[in-house]
Amino acid sequence: MSAEIPRPDFAEHRRRLLSTLEDDEAVLLFGSHHALRNGDAEYRYRQDSDVWWLTGWPDPQVAVFIRPGDAPLTIFCQARDPEREIWTGYRPGPEGAERDFGADRAFTFDRIEDELPELLVGVRRLHYAFAHDAEHDALVMSCVARARRACRRTAKDVPETFVSPSLVLHELRLRKGADEIAVMREAARVSVAAHRAAMEVAAPGVPEYVVEAALHRVFLEHGSTGPGYTSIVAAGANATCLHYITNRAVLREGQLLLVDAGCEIDHYTADITRTWPVTGRFSPEQLAIYDHVLRAQKKAVAACVEGRSFNDVHDVAIRALTEGMVDIGLLAMSVDEAVETEAYKRFYMHGTSHWLGLDVHDVGSYGRGGQSRLLEAGMVLTVEPGLYVQPDDEEAPECFRGIGVRIEDDILVTPDGPENLTEGAPKEPDALRS
Ligand code: GLY
Ligand code: MN
Ligand code: MN
Repeated sequence: MSAEIPRPDFAEHRRRLLSTLEDDEAVLLFGSHHALRNGDAEYRYRQDSDVWWLTGWPDPQVAVFIRPGDAPLTIFCQARDPEREIWTGYRPGPEGAERDFGADRAFTFDRIEDELPELLVGVRRLHYAFAHDAEHDALVMSCVARARRACRRTAKDVPETFVSPSLVLHELRLRKGADEIAVMREAARVSVAAHRAAMEVAAPGVPEYVVEAALHRVFLEHGSTGPGYTSIVAAGANATCLHYITNRAVLREGQLLLVDAGCEIDHYTADITRTWPVTGRFSPEQLAIYDHVLRAQKKAVAACVEGRSFNDVHDVAIRALTEGMVDIGLLAMSVDEAVETEAYKRFYMHGTSHWLGLDVHDVGSYGRGGQSRLLEAGMVLTVEPGLYVQPDDEEAPECFRGIGVRIEDDILVTPDGPENLTEGAPKEPDALRS
């Protein structure tokens, strides 16, 4: 990772959150649990994205409480424990929370039932994600009950409205700041380099996992912690399985290879898909499908402008892909009829876009009351149309069966139009031929 890449500005994220909260509001978040892979072997810990966005806190067993006022940030965390730290590494502890993470107050996690009720006095509206973790829910309810008991027959406020963090916090996460965009550019840059390396390695006789290894090597060499989601390396008809992650088949002459992979840097991920011929030569049928997906993708990217809706991007892709399906004889009806009846879904069954950020399918609503939301500068979304002909689709012309193509880029909406963060990954047919 290059030294000039700034870290996410967690203090600025807290300022943004605090500026939207009234004095009688507070936000309460819990970190992710440490997940076991099997027995007592753990997955590498990955912090909850909301906790990360606000604090950059790296450890499990943490709760974060934020409330406007003189001491807005309270962190409950694991105590320092020299014996455990010999096994699992440094823990900042409450001392580190105050010294290095901007906490105004910090306690060990086991103090939460004693301290949180007091912190909740004066809070009428609590932003907390109920119904995600029963243990945390029980803890919060017990603390609210204690606060209520302590304030009975007083004029003091206690929480009476509970709202999801999606209302405020996730709307803030949806609009990326300059610090976040800088990190996302780096994740995109490294992911582009990884796709280029994958293209170098792919050849007949090479297993999909060797291509996966080439991707991950580049991710790690550039300081990423690894993929931001499980990499898809799908040769031939494997590409018609949308979430193919087995990655064990061997590439063969005449196949296309679909790779959907992006790396995570400072918890932000890229998400790129490229599809190319293993031998550098497209068959006429592969090229016909590829050209239509590429045309649809470019049109959909061009629709990522301020003021257009999220659904517009999908509609543009659907129209262009359906034109392609009719053009090459996959659908024997008019384009209007295929769109109207959704006949296109036989070959294009997923959405065109999702928000991108700390989560590969990032937070932020897609609309309200049935109305798709309008795009704004600072939002980042993927554009990933595809066309998939199942190998056993006996109604499709045989020459197209088993072909799967997807092309995916990461698009930043700017006042000057869409900026493609991942355009460095080749996608023009001529750049994929050898
Ligand atoms: N790689 C996950 C997605 O494209 O949505
Ligand atoms: Mn995606
Ligand atoms: Mn993807």
